[in-house]
Amino acid sequence: MSRVSVIGAGYVGLVTGVCLAEKGHDVTVVESDANKLARIRAGEAPFHEAGLSELLTRHNGRAFRATASVEDAVSDTELTLIAVGTPFDGKTIDLTAVLTACDEVGRAMRRAGRYHVVVVKSTVVPGTTVGPVRERLIAASGLEAGSGFGLGANPEFLTEGQAIDDFMHPDRIVIGGIDERTLGALETLYTGFAGVPIIRTNPSTAEMIKYASNSLLAAMISFSNEIADLCSAIGGIDALDVMRGVHASAYLTVPSTNGVRLQAPIASFLEAGCGFGGSCLPKDVSALVAHGRARGVEMGMLDETMSINRMRPARVIEHLKRGVGSLNGKRVAVLGLAFKPDTDDVRESPAFPIITKLLEEGATVSAHDPIANEPARRVLGNAPVRFADSLSDAVAGADAVVVVTRWKQFAALSELVARMSPAPLVFDGRRMLDRAAFPRYDGIGL
Ligand code: NAD
Ligand code: UGA
Repeated sequence: MSRVSVIGAGYVGLVTGVCLAEKGHDVTVVESDANKLARIRAGEAPFHEAGLSELLTRHNGRAFRATASVEDAVSDTELTLIAVGTPFDGKTIDLTAVLTACDEVGRAMRRAGRYHVVVVKSTVVPGTTVGPVRERLIAASGLEAGSGFGLGANPEFLTEGQAIDDFMHPDRIVIGGIDERTLGALETLYTGFAGVPIIRTNPSTAEMIKYASNSLLAAMISFSNEIADLCSAIGGIDALDVMRGVHASAYLTVPSTNGVRLQAPIASFLEAGCGFGGSCLPKDVSALVAHGRARGVEMGMLDETMSINRMRPARVIEHLKRGVGSLNGKRVAVLGLAFKPDTDDVRESPAFPIITKLLEEGATVSAHDPIANEPARRVLGNAPVRFADSLSDAVAGADAVVVVTRWKQFAALSELVARMSPAPLVFDGRRMLDRAAFPRYDGIGL
């Protein structure tokens, strides 16, 4: 059992905290947002994530506690995971929150006066842990890295919507440490994950593994979108059929015991759509490109991955205009505001640029998400968008309907549209619907 503190109770920090408690560790989570902290302390999950409330209820006040005090957390524990946000500010990764946390942890280590291991779990560009993080910790603690404190990087690979399951059953655990003592402390932390491959390396390599992993996923999505656009331009080719053929490759399938080849999960990133969003893929790819440029390495492929992604909303608008003509005065229902299904996270959701473009074109927009209407309303502020509480309310009277997020609830659209006269154009931005079920259907890659 390790006594561990986690700085930042966001998607990664809170999930990590409750899951490590479930694995038998003693966990103190530190959160600086008073409102979020109060909700966590009351046993209430501050965001939607399957299974989070249950684990919080089970461990809160027992193996898991939340505090605002970094000092208390560090003095009660032997290892600290830093899991605060690392946004991209348009030019470079913004390390303000990470370095502020380092200052606080460093000062707390100085007061505790004993060896402590500090591990960066946030996604940070390669060189950050042994560079600015190490410097700030030394300055704040007055201790030497290695002899006075341990230092490591332990990137997180969970995906929102299935974060608890991903953390409890990871595909890999990547631990980077400056020395054996740090790596040993991290191995102890992860002893409860028998059978999971542990990649033991230095901190910068661990950081790079995280960026390379997300960049690969983003590149595959943009690749699929580029192919889909060409299919649409040529005509008579459905990108969905093309990708089905590509997915069948032995490179992308594994043989099962009964001889049938099963699709490898990576194929789920070879699906054309209206673009990747979220708090990670766009910011991580942009940060890596900027990091490369600062070191004289032009990351052309990843730069283009982002350019293709930025063009997705315009492609959706082109398709809509092809279907209904000018959008001026047309009523358009936008379905799906979360950046992906099963989450209420709307950060960098493709729905926002699509809605903005629709409004610029003079359309009247109604929007609906099964659980993310409120967070989306906060982002859109005073924009003239009508938020509908139900799918049927959202599409009532619509000239066109755009599916942006692959929520399974949207399968009910066929029945709703069947009762509408005239039928709206249904534009399937995720190719998730049965096209034969709609009188007027268009989609990405058609
Ligand atoms: P988040 O914004 O949801 O959470 C960060 C939390 O840290 C916030 O609640 C904030 O109030 C708190 N915080 C900031 N500074 C603090 C401080 N000094 N003391 C205490 N609390 C502080 O962010 P997130 O989505 O959990 O992402 C965190 C990191 O993990 C990022 O680097 C991200 O790239 C990476 N990551 C995220 C995911 C994901 O799915 N969200 C997956 C893998 C990796
Ligand atoms: C992603 C990675 O999948 C995780 O492995 C990683 O840990 C995480 O980023 C992170 O570093 O934070 P996440 O952003 O939660 O996870 O969600 P994804 O399932 O990867 O989806 C990202 C976006 O890509 C969504 O907007 C989704 O709709 C889009 N997408 C996904 C596509 O447009 N096409 C696809 O084929 C797949």
